[in-house]
This record gives sequence, structure tokens and C-alpha cells, in this order.
Amino acid sequence: MTTITDPSYVDPALINPRAVRLVEAFKDALIRLRDEEGLPYDDLNAAADVLQKIQAVTGAPLALMAMPLYSELFQDGRDGYTPSDDVDSPTYIPGSPRIGNPGTLPMRPDEPGTPLIASGRVLDGHGRPLAGARMEIYHAANNGNYSGQYDDGVPTHNLRGHLFTDADGRYAFTTVTPIAYTDRQVAAIDGIAEVASALGRSLYRPAHSSPAWSAPNLRFE
Ligand SMILES: [Fe+2]
Repeated sequence: MTTITDPSYVDPALINPRAVRLVEAFKDALIRLRDEEGLPYDDLNAAADVLQKIQAVTGAPLALMAMPLYSELFQDGRDGYTPSDDVDSPTYIPGSPRIGNPGTLPMRPDEPGTPLIASGRVLDGHGRPLAGARMEIYHAANNGNYSGQYDDGVPTHNLRGHLFTDADGRYAFTTVTPIAYTDRQVAAIDGIAEVASALGRSLYRPAHSSPAWSAPNLRFE
């Protein structure tokens, strides 16, 4: 028997198909807006700001629900539509140390987690290797916390680093396998997990790292 332990898994029995359809309709409308008028990153920030204010007043974590929707809009666009070529995100910290290529992210001697080696190539929009692209890599530790966000004694740049792709656009680095994590304050709100499940979403973000490129118009394989 297989047991699913991934906390970002949503039991299909909990999904409300009509609610999913309504959210999809909203998404379709936003996709039209994106393709007809454009949907810059400033729009995302403005919308998230309003949603966060509503959350502060009502306790309803609408911003959390909306963010995955927006990421899908930005990432699914024509011609590799992307909101920005910068590397900024709420968990990004500038000044990460340079690591080798292949290299290893800075980590504590007893860093918990399953070792992971990630590798690939950075290509331009025509599929040609991009040499010397700066790649920022950062992800949460095995307890779901990013370094430098809490006063928890973890070094600021733990599990954060950058490297430059080789002549063939290749990169490789060693780290620990990221895990799914959630915002514990949000997850503690009464009934919110049920609402998320009804929409086919989880309060947990799937395990991920956050590689970002310093050059625009790139894709990776
Ligand atoms: Fe994250």
C-alpha cells in the first residue's frame, strides 16, 4: 500500500468542482486581460497589497489563495511571459556567496535533510547555451524556514548561493532536498484548510528551490 505523505497533496474527495470552475473562470478573465492589455509585476503587487489589507481586517488569507493563481498567469503566458527578470521575492536576500560550478550551497555541518544534487543547462530563447549566466539559488531548510528571516541562530546565507554557468550553459550544485512548507499562522486559521481543499489547493507550497537568472529571456531544462 502506498501512503501519501506529501502535505501539499489534496484529497480529490475534498475538492468542490463548482468552486474550482468559478476560480478558473476568474483566471480565464485575467488571462485575457494579460494578453490584451498586459499584466505587469506592479499589478501583482498592487493586487496583493489590497488582498493583504483585506486579510488584516478580516483574517481571511485571500493573498495566500491568490498568489498561486497569479504565478500561473505569469508563468503560462505566451513567449515565456514572465513578470520580471529580477530575482526579488519576499524570501530573497542579496549578497549570497559565490559557489563553484559544480558547487555546494553553504550549509550547517549537521544540516538536516536528504542530500540533493541538481544540474541542468541555461538556454536563451533560441535554445542556445548561455555561458556565464548568474544563477541565484535559495530555498527553505528542512523545517520550512528560509535563513535570514527569523532570529533563530541560522547563518543568514544558509542554503543560499550563486554560481555562473559554464561555457555550455551547464550548472550543478549540491544541497539538501527542499520540503513542502506552509505559513503556520495562516494554517492555524479555523476552516482555512477546508476552503483551500475545496479549490483543489493546499496551504502547503510544494517542495521547491528558487533559482533565478540574471539575464532576461531565458529558459532552462
Ligand atoms: Fe519558497
